[in-house]
Amino acid sequence: MVEQPYVLLSCGMSIDGYVDDTGAGRLLLSNEADFDRVDEVRAGCDAILVGAATIRSDDPRLVVRSAARREARTARGERPTPLKVTLTGSCDLDPEARFFTMGDVDKLVYCAGPSLDEARKRLGDRATVIDGGDPVDLHRVAADLYARGVRRLMVEGGGTVHTQFLTAGLADELQLVVAPMFVGDSRAPRFVHDGDFPWGPHRRATLAGVRQIGDVVLLRYALSNRFDTKG
Ligand SMILES: NC(=O)c1ccc[n+]([C@@H]2O[C@H](COP(=O)([O-])OP(=O)(O)OC[C@H]3O[C@@H](n4cnc5c(N)ncnc54)[C@H](OP(=O)(O)O)[C@@H]3O)[C@@H](O)[C@H]2O)c1
Repeated sequence: MVEQPYVLLSCGMSIDGYVDDTGAGRLLLSNEADFDRVDEVRAGCDAILVGAATIRSDDPRLVVRSAARREARTARGERPTPLKVTLTGSCDLDPEARFFTMGDVDKLVYCAGPSLDEARKRLGDRATVIDGGDPVDLHRVAADLYARGVRRLMVEGGGTVHTQFLTAGLADELQLVVAPMFVGDSRAPRFVHDGDFPWGPHRRATLAGVRQIGDVVLLRYALSNRFDTKG
């Protein structure tokens, strides 16, 4: 049996493959109906993971927005919103970021060994800081999350994190939303960075579903034989 969570990567990008522009603040790529769909996916997961750079740039809340979904989670004996998880090497994280202050749920910070002491000093009141290796090893993170009871993990970016889950062969599913806009600036961040991906011209990924949601399209890719059609 695989002792790691089912890993679902979720990303919104422009037609030209960017996940943000170069301006301050977050670029809203999706529409309300799709944000609601993402909320539902979140509500069905045990944990949500983002990279430290996404916390610094977007200050995301990463909580379940819908009261009905929070209540349904509570009725199932779960916390109203999934566990929040991040990775950092530098530990350059603000304890006042919404990642730490919002949601009545544990926050886990997998930190590279050399920054551990600093991370515990800075974030110890707000989060559990865990030695993730140097750099943080995603296989170790996945195994540790599984040991903490996480069976379904949603990874919400950014590109550095998506790239590592994909190249490490740790992703079971990709939900990619394409928004009807171009960013047109190669300085902007892309969905993934360079890497040795398991899927290429000789091993194509499996497209498992396509859904139009207003003016965006959701593409679902099955990336492992654990792919779960319920999503
Ligand atoms: N459209 C979307 O769906 C979406 C979603 C999320 C984010 N975004 C965008 O993505 C951009 C950020 O993406 P990004 O690629 O720059 O960053 P990212 O993936 O969010 O975070 C990268 C950071 O995470 C930490 N990290 C990742 N892997 C690590 C490892 N193995 N060991 C130690 N630390 C590790 C490092 O933090 P330290 O620097 O602290 O060491 C690294 O700089 C933003 O512009 C954001 O708006 C878009």
